[in-house]
Amino acid sequence: MNRGFIFDLDGVIVDTAKFHFIAWKRLADQLGFEFTEEDNERLKGVSRTRSLEILLEIGGIELSEDEKQHLAQQKNEWYVELIGGLTSNDILPGAEKFLKEAADQSIKIALGSASKNAPYILEKLGIDRLFDAQIDGTQVSKAKPDPEVFLKGAEKIHVSPQNCLVFEDAQAGIEAARRGGMKCVGIGNNALLKGADLTVPGMDKITVKQAIELLEN
Ligand code: BG6
Ligand code: MG
Repeated sequence: MNRGFIFDLDGVIVDTAKFHFIAWKRLADQLGFEFTEEDNERLKGVSRTRSLEILLEIGGIELSEDEKQHLAQQKNEWYVELIGGLTSNDILPGAEKFLKEAADQSIKIALGSASKNAPYILEKLGIDRLFDAQIDGTQVSKAKPDPEVFLKGAEKIHVSPQNCLVFEDAQAGIEAARRGGMKCVGIGNNALLKGADLTVPGMDKITVKQAIELLEN
């Protein structure tokens, strides 16, 4: 049987949330309102455009589409500058080992990320060749919790959704996996993530064997 593992990127393979936060906060500072780490939680797994809308809602600011586009671009320039220094040292504990062991077991591996910067990040981390397929924010029209990103990933690795296991740190991503008919491992706090088939604190806390068992039972 063909099996597939589909990985979210930010928060599962690399901790980029801190850089997103710095860049969004810089924008909020410039617009003159407070933006906290707690607010930043709401942006996890959410597309860049939707993230900006949430940020502006928090600040109580209404802007034209042109202005919004300009601000999203500005934030991304700051963000790209911040992630420019990423190296393999920034891969979260256990992630690279897990990817390699899964490949050794002939499991097909796909990326399912909302980020338009995903290819750049994977290249910086030096692990892009570990993925059989990569679906990122430039290839989807519907953001998580819509399952599009994961369904496209499954299609590209030629594995049916019910034989795919998704690894996700965001609530929107867990919902997307479920809507796509896939099982899901939540990465993070069990009390905060709802609806995952199993939640572990990080990729170093699950083995490929456990993941396969979860998929098959
Ligand atoms: C997700 C992050 O992976 O990508 C979100 O969790 C982010 O916080 C989204 O907004 C889009 O990223 P980017 O790199 O396209 O701005
Ligand atoms: Mg994520």
